[in-house]
Amino acid sequence: MNNKLKVDFLVIGSGVAGLRMALELKKYGDVLILTKSLLKEGSTMHAQGGVAVVYSSIDKPKYHFADTINAGNGICNPEAVWRMVEEGPIRVKELIDWGVAFDIEGKKFDFTKEGAHRVSRVLHAGGDATGANIEEVLINKMGAEHIKFYENDYVCRLIEKDNEVFGAVTYKNGKRVTIFSKAVFIATGGIGQLYTNTTNPPVSTGDGIAFSFLSGADIMDSEFIQFHPTSLAIGIYPRFLISEAVRGEGAILVDEKGEPFMERYHPMKDLAARDIVSRAIYDIMKKRNLKNVWLDISPIGLNKFSKRFPTIYKTLITNNVPLDKGLIPVVPAAHYFMGGVRIDLNGKTSLKNLFAAGEVSCNGLHGANRLASNSLLESLVFAKIAAENGKYYRKKEIKEIIFDEKKGIDKKIDSELYSEIRLKMETNAGIIRNMTNLKKNVRYFKNLWKEYGNIPSNTIEKFRLKNMIINGFLISYAALQRKESRGAHFRSDFSFIDNRHWKRHQILNKKEFKWIK
Ligand code: FAD
Ligand code: SIN
Repeated sequence: MNNKLKVDFLVIGSGVAGLRMALELKKYGDVLILTKSLLKEGSTMHAQGGVAVVYSSIDKPKYHFADTINAGNGICNPEAVWRMVEEGPIRVKELIDWGVAFDIEGKKFDFTKEGAHRVSRVLHAGGDATGANIEEVLINKMGAEHIKFYENDYVCRLIEKDNEVFGAVTYKNGKRVTIFSKAVFIATGGIGQLYTNTTNPPVSTGDGIAFSFLSGADIMDSEFIQFHPTSLAIGIYPRFLISEAVRGEGAILVDEKGEPFMERYHPMKDLAARDIVSRAIYDIMKKRNLKNVWLDISPIGLNKFSKRFPTIYKTLITNNVPLDKGLIPVVPAAHYFMGGVRIDLNGKTSLKNLFAAGEVSCNGLHGANRLASNSLLESLVFAKIAAENGKYYRKKEIKEIIFDEKKGIDKKIDSELYSEIRLKMETNAGIIRNMTNLKKNVRYFKNLWKEYGNIPSNTIEKFRLKNMIINGFLISYAALQRKESRGAHFRSDFSFIDNRHWKRHQILNKKEFKWIK
C-alpha cells in the first residue's frame, strides 16, 4: 500500500453492517473496506440466536414493534423501530436469495423464541451459527468488482476539519497510511472488551466511537450496556455465549440447589427481558456468594440440544464441561452497546460526510435495552439506508486536506493497564451502579487521559488504550448523569424510573470536556 490512497467510499469494519454497506455503496463508486483483524472477525461471526423478523403467518409488524418498545423501557425511537420492523423482512428475503439457509422444520422455517418476544420469530441458521452463515454469504456476495478489502488494517483516526470528514488514517504493519474519500462509513462494532466479563471478541474495543468522538461527533446513550444473562462460567475469555435461544427451547436457570428462581423476579420467568434476568442472576449470586448459577438443559434433552445447538455443544465438550446432569454454569457478561455514534434515520452522523451503521451507531432504536436478536436485523436495515447516501456523492470530488498529527512526549504503556481498565468498568460501571463508584471511574479515566491522551500515537497498542479510556469515560460519565434506573442502566442509589427528567436520550460531545484535546 502507498502512504496515501484515494477511494470513493471508505468503509471501516467488516461485520454485517460494514459488508451490507459496501454491497450497496458499490452501486455508486469504488469501495475500500478496512478491517483491523481478519475479514470474518467481529461480533457478527459469533452471533448465535438468530435474526428477529416478522416472517411467519402468526406474526405481525405491530407485535414486533410493541415487543421492541416494551424491552426498550420508554425511550426507543419509534420511527426507527418501525423502519426496522417493516423493512426487516425485505432485507431477510434478500439474505435468503443470496444463500443464507435459515433452518427449516418440516417444510417451514423453524422460528425460535428469545426473551421478551411474545411469539417465536427468531430465524436461525446452522442451529446456533447464524452470524457465521450471514457473514459468509455477504463476503461471497461482494465479488471483486468495485470492492477491495484490506485485513489487519487498523483505522486510528478520522481526517476532519470544521465538522467535515475527508478520510481516515490507518496503520498496517507499523506503516501509517492516509486515505482520502468522498465519504466515510463506520461499522466498527461494540465496546464489550472494556469489561472483564464479555461475550465480545477482541476487536470490540469501541474504536469507531472513540475516534468519532475525538473528531467532534455526537455520542448518544453511552450508559446503556446490555449484559447477557448466560455466558459460560469456566474461565475462558472472552466468555463463550450460551444463547438465549437455549432458554427459548426450554432450558431454565437454577440455583445451587437446582431450584428455578426466575418466577420470583418476573412473570415471564426465564424469558423475561435480558436486563431483568441478568439482574436476577446477579442478585442470587451476590446474596448466596455464588460464582455462577446454572442453566438446566434437561427439559430439552441432550440429544436434541446437541443437534439444535451444535456449536455450543461442541464447545462444552471440548472444554470438558460435564453434561451428565444437564447443568451448564453461567454468569452474566457485557454483550451489546445500545449507545454509539449518534445517527439520524438516514444513517448520517453529526459530522458531514460521516455515516455509521451497526453496533457502533445509535439512532435510539433499542432504547434502554435491546430486544434479543434485533441487532442483526437493525444492522441490515440501517446499513442499507446509510449506504444509499452514496448516490449523492457520485459526482463529488475527493478532497485532500492538510491536517496535523498530535505531538507529545513518548511514554511506555504498562500492559497491566488494559486489565485494570476492564476491572474498573466491571466493578464500577457494571450491572449495578452507584454514584460513588461511577465518580471513581470518571476521575480515573480523566486522570488516565491526562497521562496518556497526549502521547504520540504510533502503535496500535497506544490507540487501543486511548480508545478504551475515552469509552470508559463516556460510559461512566453518562451513567453518573442518569440519576434513575431504566432498562440495562441500574443505579442502586436511584432504583426507580424517573420519567419526568430522564425519559430521553443523552448526547455527549467533546466540546463539553475542555480537558480532552
Ligand atoms: P461487528 O460484527 O463487531 O464488526 C465490527 C468490525 O469492525 C470488525 O470487522 C472489526 O475488526 C472492525 N473494526 C473495529 N475497529 C476497527 C478499527 N479501528 N479499524 C478497522 N476495523 C475495525 N445479535 C443478534 O441480532 N442476534 C444474535 O443471535 C446475536 N448473537 C450474538 C452473539 C455474540 C457472542 C455476540 C458478541 C453478539 C451477538 N449479537 C447478536 C449482537 C450482534 O452480533 C452484533 O451487534 C452485530 O453483529 C454487530 O455487527 P457490526 O457489523 O456492527 O460489528
Ligand atoms: C443469543 O443468542 O442469546 C444472542 C442474541 C442477541 O444478542 O441478540
